[in-house]
Amino acid sequence: MNINRDKVNKFFSKIPTHFALIFLCLVWLVPTLGLLITSFRPQQAVNETGWWTVLSRKSAGSEGFPEYSQYCEECHGADGQAVEGVNLSDPELIARYSRSARLLGLLRQEIDGQPHMGDNPLPSIDEAAAITAYLSSLSGTEELPTFTINNYVDALVGFRQQGSTYLEACEDGTARTLGFSCTARDLLNPRGMGRAFINSLIVTIPATILPLLFAAFAGYAFSWLDFPGRMWLFAILVGLQVVPLQMTLVPISRIYARLGLNGTFLGVWLFHTGFGMPYAIYLMRNFLGGLPRDLFESAYLDGANHWTAFYRLALPLAAPALAALGIFQFLWVWNDLLVALVFLGGQRPVLTYQISNMVSSLGAGWHLLTAAAFISFLLPLAVFFGLQRYFVRGLLAGSVKG
Ligand code: HEC
Repeated sequence: MNINRDKVNKFFSKIPTHFALIFLCLVWLVPTLGLLITSFRPQQAVNETGWWTVLSRKSAGSEGFPEYSQYCEECHGADGQAVEGVNLSDPELIARYSRSARLLGLLRQEIDGQPHMGDNPLPSIDEAAAITAYLSSLSGTEELPTFTINNYVDALVGFRQQGSTYLEACEDGTARTLGFSCTARDLLNPRGMGRAFINSLIVTIPATILPLLFAAFAGYAFSWLDFPGRMWLFAILVGLQVVPLQMTLVPISRIYARLGLNGTFLGVWLFHTGFGMPYAIYLMRNFLGGLPRDLFESAYLDGANHWTAFYRLALPLAAPALAALGIFQFLWVWNDLLVALVFLGGQRPVLTYQISNMVSSLGAGWHLLTAAAFISFLLPLAVFFGLQRYFVRGLLAGSVKG
């Protein structure tokens, strides 16, 4: 009885914490879910309605499509049959204008010397896309799919034509005029996210492993090797942590220019390694230095040299710290734009560079951006969940002894 009451009391006393946690989760989850859902919606739908409407079926009629009633209803009527001889709900007719660019082309043509739209302005390309969507729902042929992978395909191959998708363009042949081959080779198109993903991996993996490796060596040396000037060197390293990255851009890019390292992956690896190391060494020294001294002394007494002590003793014990450092360094390099922009630029675009390009050049076509954001978000998520059990332990590495 007593125990039960204790449990109940405990549970109720925790309720505010639970609410706070649930609240935090929602704050994080809802926008992420919105982004995920949006990234799988067709372009027309993204431009028209919010992602939360995916669950409700759209009502028939032109009310849900203000663009049609604004531009076309005046002459063609709500059912699309008001003009004699033109039936806008005829599937064959609509199939010819199923793409917004085609429809705009038709609207620009004159009817008996008069503009098609009369005195009314032409719809924009996004509005035209909405109108084609309405027409195909009128004709009942092409229900607009609720979900599509087109955004991901377009983002991966770098297809940025408004009012059309890569798969459609490949079907009707316009993709070839834009320089796409419509084979798997398009995934390596330098303007696409597929190539950028590979470039990001090539940059990030060595730029994470190298500083970790050096930091583990240096951390061991600083804590268990006796050499003159040890404390001075360590103090200098601690001081180096405050050097701002921007300050070194000019001298390093000049050195790189002389060595021919500008625009190479090697240059970026070295730069990230150099900037990752001071903090990594600092953390590793604190962690390894905090291990019990007896442990190492008995190992030395048993005849272990420094290499075996490092390899057999220090490395396994430091695994949580290394994992936490690894996550940080990985995220930092993966999300870095400045260094990639300065030293790689457009020659070997990484994900961040490609996304920044999309933001500026797409403006209205941000449906691709949702997919691009998710592509660049996948790996950090995987790394984080893969290593998260080390994460909290490692976070405390610098502060808690033992
Ligand atoms: C000012 C009146 C007017 C407006 C506004 C108008 N149309 Fe038309 N449209 C016509 C007329 C008249 C015809 C018949 C032309 C003919 O017989 O050659 C026509 C023909 C068409 C056709 C058939 C073309 C073909 O190949 O036979 C389509 C499709 C069409 N309109 C779509 C639209 C769409 C979509 C809109 C809205 C963006 C629109 N129209 C707005 C007057 C209009």
